[in-house]
Amino acid sequence: MLGSLILLWIGFSLLFLLFRTRRPNNFPPGPRPIPIFGNLLQLNLVDLLNDFKKLSERYGKVYSIYIGRMPAVVLNGVQVMKEALATQAVVFAGRPQDLMINHLVEGTGVVLTTGPIWKEHRRFALITLRNFGLGKRSMEERILGEISYITSHLEKNAGKAIEPQILFHKVAFNIICCVLFGTRFKHEDEFLQLNIRLFEENAKIFNGPWAMIYDMLPLLRHLPLPFQKVFQNGNKMRKSLGEQVSQHKKSRVPGEPRGLTDCYLDEMEKRGDDDSSFNEKQLIGFLLDLLFAGTDTTSNTLLFAFLHLMTHPDVQGRCQKEIDEVLGEKEQASFEDRHMMPYTQAMIHEAQRVADTVPLNVFHATTKDTRLMGYDIPKGTLIIPNLSSVLNEESQWKFPHDFNPSNFLNDQGEFVKPEAFMPFSAGPRMCLGEGLARMELFLILVTLLRRFKFVWPDDAGVPDYTPIFGITQRPKPYRLGVRLRL
Ligand code: HEM
Repeated sequence: MLGSLILLWIGFSLLFLLFRTRRPNNFPPGPRPIPIFGNLLQLNLVDLLNDFKKLSERYGKVYSIYIGRMPAVVLNGVQVMKEALATQAVVFAGRPQDLMINHLVEGTGVVLTTGPIWKEHRRFALITLRNFGLGKRSMEERILGEISYITSHLEKNAGKAIEPQILFHKVAFNIICCVLFGTRFKHEDEFLQLNIRLFEENAKIFNGPWAMIYDMLPLLRHLPLPFQKVFQNGNKMRKSLGEQVSQHKKSRVPGEPRGLTDCYLDEMEKRGDDDSSFNEKQLIGFLLDLLFAGTDTTSNTLLFAFLHLMTHPDVQGRCQKEIDEVLGEKEQASFEDRHMMPYTQAMIHEAQRVADTVPLNVFHATTKDTRLMGYDIPKGTLIIPNLSSVLNEESQWKFPHDFNPSNFLNDQGEFVKPEAFMPFSAGPRMCLGEGLARMELFLILVTLLRRFKFVWPDDAGVPDYTPIFGITQRPKPYRLGVRLRL
């Protein structure tokens, strides 16, 4: 008996030594990892931001944790973020490569790729998005067109309280579809419903323990565990986008693009069969990236904005007064009007700050050995730029813990944007849909606030602002009370 216990003890000790993780020399400090799991068992995955805050108080603005055996450096606060993402822009512009999300996208698209594929597709996306803003049917018209569907839905429900979650999701999805395909989908359409459902399912798995297990324990990756669903869903989404691309190929008129897909097909034709990274598989990955990077982010921000507007009627009223004065008899708002609406602009930026939509950013990686704030960080290290720590940094905001548009107003009541406003991140990887997102948020909020008053339903209890943590954060489900303004 004693012999077996000693053998067991020796066995455990050997395993411990074998899988022991040791921080490299002069690596950022952090909690002691345990074999195989790293620090994951010490972190509360449902309230990770709070744990990250405590670690920052203990170890400083740059610290490290272990995801399984993989070290990750967490960056906190605006100064560190600027130093890494802007000053050392190229060094911190990589992406980690062996995570579940990488295996899902199969090296395609723009969000997770690196090197020439990333550069060429990022450039192409930026130019095409800009051109659509200038083209015959401007981006603004596309967005206003989609807003008319929400307006009529809300008009039908005036006097009631609705569940806005799916509505805003479909609106954001359709606006991107207008850009990608030149067309919108009815809210009952199969393509729209299927993709939103599959994306929701995948988001749930990514935000849960199975994604962690996949990333942490490569040996388990081929087993029939629940994370396989992510890849099955990925294939279904690619198939349905492939059908859109086939239809576009059949009906397109070269040189007369209806949306980004046609532009891409024109570009493929122009480039011919050279070694370029433009091909049909890439196109589908690219569409998938743009659709999903632009849907949840925008719709969750809107959900936070309306939650705070309903529960801060003074802020809502002040925006409505400003909107009425600036728009007067004008039929529709235009993005240009924002320059005359400092308070409304401040409210929208404040909504983005408190929404904290992508709290831990999309993970980065170092592209070569470097030094940050006195620590050595080797090439290929996973970097977690904690944007939440910047948007809530106490030294950077007048009212860090409240919803208060004054965070974006100076003493003269003019709109100002502090450097810690980083919901879209910073540097060469910064969100490429920022322009589109800002236009969407402005036009949707201004149009709806002009037409409706939003009230917190009497029977809804005390509002709960605590976000549901995830790659993108969302508020807990709530109902939106809708009243027509006269
Ligand atoms: C309020 C809305 C949005 C927020 C808060 C947001 C935020 C972000 C953040 C934090 C990143 C990661 C940046 C980094 O890695 O440093 C990102 C990347 C990205 N976003 Fe957005 N985003 C929004 C809307 C959009 C929209 C509408 C689109 C679609 C056109 C879009 C497309 C992308 C793409 C393609 C990337 C990857 C860029 C790259 O890796 O080079 N985003 N976004």
